[in-house]
Amino acid sequence: MDKILIHGGRPLSGSIKVSGSKNSSLPILAATLLTPEPCVVQGVPDLSDTHYMLQILTHLGAQVERASGTVTVAAENIESVAPYEVVRKMRASVCVLGPLLGRCKEATVSLPGGCVIGDRPIDLHLTGFEALGAAVRVEGGNVKVFAPKLTGAVINLRGKFGPTVLGTDNVMMAAVLAEGVTVIEGAAQEPEVVDLANFLNKMGAKIEGAGTRRIIIEGVAALHGVEHAVIPDRIEAGTFLVAGAICGKEVTVKRVEPEHVRSITDVLGSCGFPINIADHAISILPNGEAKALELITEPYPGFPTDMQAQMCALLSTSDGISVVTDNIFPQRYMHVAELKRMGAQMQMEGGTAVIQGVDRLFGAQVMASDLRASAALVLAGLKADGITEVSRVYHIDRGYERLDEKLSELGAHIERVKEA
Ligand code: EPZ
Repeated sequence: MDKILIHGGRPLSGSIKVSGSKNSSLPILAATLLTPEPCVVQGVPDLSDTHYMLQILTHLGAQVERASGTVTVAAENIESVAPYEVVRKMRASVCVLGPLLGRCKEATVSLPGGCVIGDRPIDLHLTGFEALGAAVRVEGGNVKVFAPKLTGAVINLRGKFGPTVLGTDNVMMAAVLAEGVTVIEGAAQEPEVVDLANFLNKMGAKIEGAGTRRIIIEGVAALHGVEHAVIPDRIEAGTFLVAGAICGKEVTVKRVEPEHVRSITDVLGSCGFPINIADHAISILPNGEAKALELITEPYPGFPTDMQAQMCALLSTSDGISVVTDNIFPQRYMHVAELKRMGAQMQMEGGTAVIQGVDRLFGAQVMASDLRASAALVLAGLKADGITEVSRVYHIDRGYERLDEKLSELGAHIERVKEA
C-alpha cells in the first residue's frame, strides 16, 4: 500500500485540468448494458472505481476496451448475475441493477456493504423497482430482482435523508425500457444524474425533467449504441479550489462547469476568497485565513456532502469558530480524529463538527479512511508545518486521478512512496 508524504508550507500557484467525473462515469458505464450495440464513453477518469466497474461489465459478458480515457463497451450477450467478489470492492456497483433489470428483466447483485461514511441502504432503489412491477428478494447477501415485464409507474424516491442519486439513476435505467410512462418524484438533481439522462436520450430513450425533482420517462422498445463524453468532475474541481484557499497564490481549475460548482464557489467566497469565473475555468485568489462560517450539506444544488471533509480541513485554521453539519451522511467525520492529530481543534456534537480555528497545523502520520477524508488530510498536510504522512492512499486512488502529481504541478512538495 502506497503512502503520500507532504512537506507542508509551500504556496501553490498555477492551473490544473479537471478530469472526467467519477460519479458520472460509473452510472453511464452501467447504462451501456442497456443495448447490445457498442457504446463509446469519453473522458472516463483512470480510477480504481472505474476499473472496478469495467471488471463488473466484463464479468457480465460485455466486451470492454479502454484506450486512455475512452472506453468502448459492447454488451451483446450478457448474463445478469454480478457476484460478490467483484461487487464487494465498490458500493456503486449497485447501479448495474437498473440496467440489468431493464435489459434482462432480472438481476442478481451482491448487496453493497456499508462503508465508513455510514450505512448505505438501497431501500429506495428497491421500492422503485417494485413500483415498476419487479419482484425483489434479498437472500444470501444478494438482492434479486425479477419482472416478467416492467410497467411505467409514479414513484416517489425521496427518503428521510432527501433524494437518492444512484437510486434515481437505477430507477431511470430500469424505466427506459418499461411499457408506458414513469414519473419519478423527489428525484436527485445532481449534474451526474442529468449527464446519465443525456446519455440515455442519445441512446434513444425519452426522458424529460432530469435536473429537476420530477423526471418523466416514456418507455421505448430498445436502445442503440452511442458516443458520449462525461462531464468534468465537480468534486475534484472543488477539492483543488480548496487547496488554493488553504495555501495558494492564485490557483485555476480548467475544464470545469461553473454552474456545477456554484455552491462551492459561493461558500469559498463567504470564507473571504475572491473567485474569478470564466467560461470553463475558475480561479481562486488568496486572502489569508478563511473566515469562520456555518456550513450545512444539502442535496444539489446545495453544498455537497462530498466537499464536507475538505472544508473541515480549510476551516481548521480559520479565524473563529465554524460549525459543519452533514445532513446527508451524519457519520461522515472520519477525518476529524485525524485532523485533530495534526493540531486541529474540533469537537463532534451529534452530526455536527464544531471547529475552533487554530494558527497552525503540524505534520503527522495520519491514516486515510475514505475517499474524501483522505483528500482532506492531504489538503491539511499542504498547510501543516513539517511532514505529513498519509497512509492507505488507495482510498484516494478510488476517486482522484493523479492527485499527488497534479498538486506537484501546482508547486506542492509531495511524493508518493511504496509502503513496505
Ligand atoms: C452518490 O452516492 C455519490 N456516489 C456519493 O459520492 C455522494 O456522496 C452521494 O451520492 C450523495 O450526493 C456516486 O454517485 C457513485 P444517495 P449514493 O443515495 O447515490 C440515503 C463520493 O465521495 N439513502 O444519494 O449512494 C443514504 O443513506 C461518493 O464520490 C437511503 O436512505 O448516495 C444517504 O443518507 C461518496 N435509501 C442519502 O440517502 C436509499 O435507498 C443520500 O444517498 C438510498 C440512499
